[in-house]
Amino acid sequence: MARIDEATVRRINDAADIVEVVSDYVRLKKRGSGYIGLCPFHNERTPSFSVSKSRNICKCFSCGKGGSPVGFIMEIEQVDYPGALRILARKYGIAIEERELTDEERREASERESMLAVNEFAMRWFERNLQHTQEGRDVGLAYFRHRGISDRMIERFHLGYSLEKRDALRQEALRAGFTDEFLEKTGLIMRHEGGDISDRFRARVIYPIFTLSGKVVGFGGRTLRTDKKMAKYVNSPESVIYHKSTELYGLHQAKPSIVRKDKCILVEGYMDVISMHQAGIENVVASSGTSLTEGQIRLIHRFTENVTVIYDSDPAGIKASLRGIDLLLAEGLMVKVLLLPDGEDPDSFAQGHPSSEVERYIAENEGDFVQFKTDILMKDTGNDPIARSRAMTEIVRTIAVIPEMMLRTTYIAECSRRFGIGEELLTLQVRREIAARAERQAAEDRTRQARRSWDTAAGEAAEASAVPSAAQPEAAVQAPAAAASAAAPAVANRLAPYEREILRYVLRYGPLYLADMADEEGHTHPMSVIDVVASLLEQDMMQFSYPPYADTYAAARALMARSWPGYIARQRERLEAERESRLAAGREEIRQTAADMAEIERREQELQQSVATMVDDSLEEASRTFISRELGVDPDDTVRQVTLSLVSERHKLSKIHSKFSRVETERDRLVELVPMAIYNLKEAIIEQRLAALRDELRSRGSDPEACRRILADMGQLNESKKSLAAYLGERTITPRHHK
Ligand code: CTP
Ligand code: MN
Repeated sequence: MARIDEATVRRINDAADIVEVVSDYVRLKKRGSGYIGLCPFHNERTPSFSVSKSRNICKCFSCGKGGSPVGFIMEIEQVDYPGALRILARKYGIAIEERELTDEERREASERESMLAVNEFAMRWFERNLQHTQEGRDVGLAYFRHRGISDRMIERFHLGYSLEKRDALRQEALRAGFTDEFLEKTGLIMRHEGGDISDRFRARVIYPIFTLSGKVVGFGGRTLRTDKKMAKYVNSPESVIYHKSTELYGLHQAKPSIVRKDKCILVEGYMDVISMHQAGIENVVASSGTSLTEGQIRLIHRFTENVTVIYDSDPAGIKASLRGIDLLLAEGLMVKVLLLPDGEDPDSFAQGHPSSEVERYIAENEGDFVQFKTDILMKDTGNDPIARSRAMTEIVRTIAVIPEMMLRTTYIAECSRRFGIGEELLTLQVRREIAARAERQAAEDRTRQARRSWDTAAGEAAEASAVPSAAQPEAAVQAPAAAASAAAPAVANRLAPYEREILRYVLRYGPLYLADMADEEGHTHPMSVIDVVASLLEQDMMQFSYPPYADTYAAARALMARSWPGYIARQRERLEAERESRLAAGREEIRQTAADMAEIERREQELQQSVATMVDDSLEEASRTFISRELGVDPDDTVRQVTLSLVSERHKLSKIHSKFSRVETERDRLVELVPMAIYNLKEAIIEQRLAALRDELRSRGSDPEACRRILADMGQLNESKKSLAAYLGERTITPRHHK
């Protein structure tokens, strides 16, 4: 491939702005002097990918990937250095002088580039067939017209047609200088037994599949025959450039609209995407061909956390959406579902109604999964108690996959309202389900581990001696190793997520008043969030087990002991002075402008009120942010990273709640949430010990003395588990009436 001259390289590097470049792939939010978003290189739910505009670099503090604009493009597009330059040149409208490729250069071009080139060629050829051949127009174009697809959509999605002739594409490609090697690697041709070769796509309309950045990595071809023996769709095979589980059909075209609307609509098929676009609803993608995968969801999550699932209303579609919902929720997305009228799919619906109506229908009829599952599972069953209880079990099972406790509680409340069942009972069931899930997971892990230890010792030795790779050229932005992983615990620590939840409350709300608690002598004391956490942890001699969290918690406690009393005294003093001066200024103004005594009195009362509110609010604000502000600039890398990461975590409660009632914030519910988080950790610890004991029992089953001891321990743990569950139903601390 042609070389790019130095001057052009420099112009590209000068033009490329890291924020603009990254924004094409990641939804960024302003944070401090830079930007932050979900890392596109690994799976995460809280953002650790940060972008510095001033330094023109980006970096994930969790997985370490990132770099300059060119480096970022190389990594995310999996292209080489010239490939990345080309992409940026196109983005910034910088012309690169390209010569026709010589045979030599063509051979040298990377496999990937060659495969993309042959795909691009094939796409153009399919498009040309559709528009300019008799067969293409009579069969393909007529079909799209018949399905109501406009010329604009045909152009936008680069729809095409493959001729019926056995190897029409291959002949054309060979003539243009492409080789069988890459035609075969992309799957455009197939080699049959006996050696003869044919095109994969024949007499089909063609839907090219684009990556996010618009490269053609594969095709779907739909037959136009009604012949039942013929596969309806033929698709390109997996290849070096086409990974089905991490591509979404339509994403390239939908991305701007997804970002603008902060929402993504998920449908099943190619035609669904295109018809919805045609109806003016462009934030639509399809998982097409495969059932929805984690990789695809992560792709969506980069741009929005709101997803509406609209699948066909047939049983297969419903089954697929139920599965999709659980996956989406487990990845931390906010999910809505829309059930179309019987017999409709998004394509037929979009084609059959005026655009304005389609949009309105979606807005008015999308609902949360609790509603969806209830509707589905109780359809045609009246109010049959068995169906009801089955529906509830199903909903509880789904609620249990949601990683965030806040969101779980919200859905529990919704479910409780819908079925008229107490929240406590539902909470208990959800917790049981989570525990059962964790147990299954642990069992799986154990099996896997056991299997691994069977593997040859040689393998392990090799692994152990593997040296971490040398520092990269981007070392300047490399966070210290300890901090790099601080915010994202290794999977090995099962308790970490529970500890994380508790620590989050400490960092975000630590010094705020939570409740009055009684001491041993029965005297009650006002306690702050961090006090309550400390006292509940100490009650059972619990500690944070994940070192970065333990360190950060210790730092928060030390900070409170050291600096809080002085800090809050100074704040009070400052606000007292502020109160006085505001009151004085306000009174002065009232005296000069009021008409009579009655007005003076009334306005002075209002003044008192508003100044008091101001003082209260400022004091709360100053208290609330004390810990995060101090630890957010802590010299210890781990403490600082953990703090920044947990404090910036968004919580998703308000959106849902605002639908039912006033916006209820996490802060309003701390009095329930904090103790619950502690009990969740306690229960997880107990579960972990039980699992360890079960293992021990298995391995020492032949020693009766040991067995007796283990069983006794297990009995005790089960007792504590039971009392813990009972305890959870009760109120454990009494909140003082809050203003
Ligand atoms: N699909 C596939 N192979 C099949 C059937 C389906 O890859 N044999 C994929 C295609 O991506 C298709 C999607 O699953 O778009 C949904 O399938 P379906 O609803 O059967 O097809 P539609 O795209 O709706 O096709 P049409 O409306 O043209 O019949
Ligand atoms: Mn269809």
